[in-house]
Amino acid sequence: MTFQKAFLYLLLLCATVMADVNQQYNHFLKQHVDGEMTIQKCKSQMEILNLNGPDGKCKVKNTFILANSDQVKAICTGGGTPKENNLVQSNNPFIVVICTRTGGDSHPNCTYKGSSATKNVIIACARKLPVHYDGDVDIGTTDGK
Ligand SMILES: *[C@@H]1O[C@H](CO)[C@@H](O)[C@H](O)[C@H]1NC(C)=O
Repeated sequence: MTFQKAFLYLLLLCATVMADVNQQYNHFLKQHVDGEMTIQKCKSQMEILNLNGPDGKCKVKNTFILANSDQVKAICTGGGTPKENNLVQSNNPFIVVICTRTGGDSHPNCTYKGSSATKNVIIACARKLPVHYDGDVDIGTTDGK
């Protein structure tokens, strides 16, 4: 491979990785960030998102952060404490709505129950963008899980 070819290849690889991260970020926002979310909207929102778990059934549990995208993005750029594996725990608490499946196997027959809590959220960051919701911790505890 000539130097020029190698350079072009690297450039292409870089662009691909960046596009991929942007896509993951957008998916994360759609799935986990909603300032208008309420516990009453669990069934309808989960139906719109159409998320499935590894078993092919409706996703068992999904957490929505009641915030705007900038507030969540800030966790990756100084608003959080780094943990293992690219994970960052928010320094500030967020109100979250947790939707848990209560019945049904596949869309649109799944039913969900919502609950609300205030938590420090743990997210994965890639290129300073949140790309994955890993979990949350109750305020006042330092325990990860
Ligand atoms: C949803 O439930 C109805 C009524 O029980 C059933 O006929 C239908 O096949 C179900 N749909 C899916 C996608 O499971």
